[in-house]
This record gives sequence, C-alpha cells and structure tokens, in this order.
Amino acid sequence: MVDIQHYLKQQRHIVEKGLQRYMIQEQGSFSAHIESMRYSLFVGGKRIRPILCLAAGRAVCTSSDIEEQLLPAACALECIHTYSLIHDDLPAMDNDDLRRGQPTCHKKFGEAEAILAGDGLLTHAFSLLSNPDLPGPPPATRLQLIATLAHAAGSHGMVGGQHLDITSEEQNIPFEQLKTIHRSKTGALITAAVRMGALAAQADPIQLDALTRYGDAVGLAFQIVDDLLDVTASTEQLGKTAGTDAEQGKATYPAFFGTKQTQALAKEAVHTAKEALSSFDERAEPLRALAQYIFDRTC
Ligand code: IPE
Ligand code: IPE
Ligand code: MG
Ligand code: MG
Ligand code: MG
Repeated sequence: MVDIQHYLKQQRHIVEKGLQRYMIQEQGSFSAHIESMRYSLFVGGKRIRPILCLAAGRAVCTSSDIEEQLLPAACALECIHTYSLIHDDLPAMDNDDLRRGQPTCHKKFGEAEAILAGDGLLTHAFSLLSNPDLPGPPPATRLQLIATLAHAAGSHGMVGGQHLDITSEEQNIPFEQLKTIHRSKTGALITAAVRMGALAAQADPIQLDALTRYGDAVGLAFQIVDDLLDVTASTEQLGKTAGTDAEQGKATYPAFFGTKQTQALAKEAVHTAKEALSSFDERAEPLRALAQYIFDRTC
C-alpha cells in the first residue's frame, strides 16, 4: 500500500528541486517579468501533473536515471499548467483574486504583466523540452513529447476547452458538451502528463494505450472533483475563492447533476482509471493511489 501523503510529500520535493533547477532566473533587463512568472510558479500548487508524469515513467521503466530524464518534461507540464491558471484568473476570463492562497498574478503585477507571465511560461515549457543540453530521451522521442504537449495545450485541448468553458456560461448545453469542456480544458493536459512519462520511458503500444485510458479517466475525474470542491469546500481550504462557478453560471457537474450524483460519477471515473492499469504490476501502485487521491482530495 502506498502512503499517499508521504508519497506526495516526497514527489513534490523532487518536482520543486526540478523547478528550481529548470526555471528561468531573475536577472538582467527582464527580471521584473521573470519575477511575475516565478511568483505564480512557486507560490504553491499540488504539482499533480508533474507527479503523474514521473509516476507513469516509473511504472514502465526500471532504469535508475528515469527520474532525471523525465524532470525537464515534468517541469514543462507545470509551466503550462501555471500559465493556464494565470490566464484563467484574468478579469476577461474567470476574474479571480486568489490563487494558491495568494493574490492572483494580475492582482499582484497588473493585467499586462500577468498576460506576459503566462506567455513566458508557455514558451519556456517548449524550450525545456527541446533544449538538447537538458536531460531527456533521444531526439525522436523528444519530438513526440513536444507534439503531445502542443496538442494537449492548444486549440484541440486546453485552450479549446477554455473557449468552450467561457462561451458556455449561462447557457443550456447538452451533457456531451459539458464532458467535452472538462476533457479538453483539464483532462487533455493530465492525459498528456501520463503519456509523456510513458513515451519518455519507451512504453510499448499496449502500455501506452492503457496509460492513455488511465490519463483520460483521471483527467475527467480531476475536473469533476474541482467542480465539486467549488461547492463543498471553503476558500481557506482551496486557496482560491469557493462558490464562484454557480455565480458565473459555469457549466459544471454539480450544476447538471447535484453533488451526490456528481460524487458517484467522479468515483466511476476513478474506478475506470484503476481498471485501465490491470495489466501493470506493483510499479503502478503509485498511479493507483494517485487516482484515489484525485477523488479523496480536499483541495
Ligand atoms: C486547478 O488545478 C485548475 C484545474 C485545471 C482544475 P489544480 O487543482 O491542479 O491547481 P494547483 O496546481 O494545485 O494550484
Ligand atoms: C480551469 O478550470 C481549467 C484551466 C485552468 C485550464 P477552472 O476555472 O474550474 O479552474 P479553477 O477552479 O479556477 O482552478
Ligand atoms: Mg475557468
Ligand atoms: Mg477558474
Ligand atoms: Mg474550478
């Protein structure tokens, strides 16, 4: 059995060290811009995407240096995720003042700087993946990682999902569209995290297919639980203002189904995720425990 709290602490420590190593330093003419990027990146966060990436790699590959090889990709995922949060919080999007327990990037640095902080983090992610001087898989696999992340973060993934999220506010949309919003705005990057770990570890096609199904299911579960927590948790607990989804007429699972049925649907997605791992041995235990954590989490 994985002690999930201990495991998360340990893994977060690895990710924080990686981010310190691979994030741009505040120096030179652009230091004020870099400060705003670093503020949002280091202010907190669960680091679930990089942790999933590392766990997927370890489920496939036993080599002792797999962590070292995966860290730049894991950090790239956190850069993209943090950029998505900065832009998600902007007045033109969800207009939020609190993120990771602190003022949002635009509250602290102004809107223009927050847009640029997001742009900088997005671009830095691809520089981490493509820099041949950094650890990583062979060039052909690196290209696969770049293509995977670009697809997940772009107009067919996170950005497209954010578009649908915004344009669906106060609308009567069918359930299929709600699911598409969740799978794209949040699920796509989480699936990419798992796939990138698997690809970098040279997973075979059967392993990659199973891990993709796992990623799809935990990705959907993650956003369903995010919706639930917006209704059931406090602002202090979340480090972001609770209750704003209903105020803004967001398309969410609780708005569609109520909290009880939403919980059941999140549980079902987590079950699907665990089932997808049935052909893996005990090296996939952390992935199983992470799926359960995504359901059980309180922030
Ligand atoms: C929040 O993501 C936004 C969603 C995609 C649901 P997280 O809950 O992973 O936020 P941090 O990184 O821990 O702050
Ligand atoms: C955010 O969804 C998804 C992305 C940032 C891509 P939400 O708008 O629900 O995230 P929170 O609740 O603000 O963290
Ligand atoms: Mg949003
Ligand atoms: Mg939001
Ligand atoms: Mg939310």
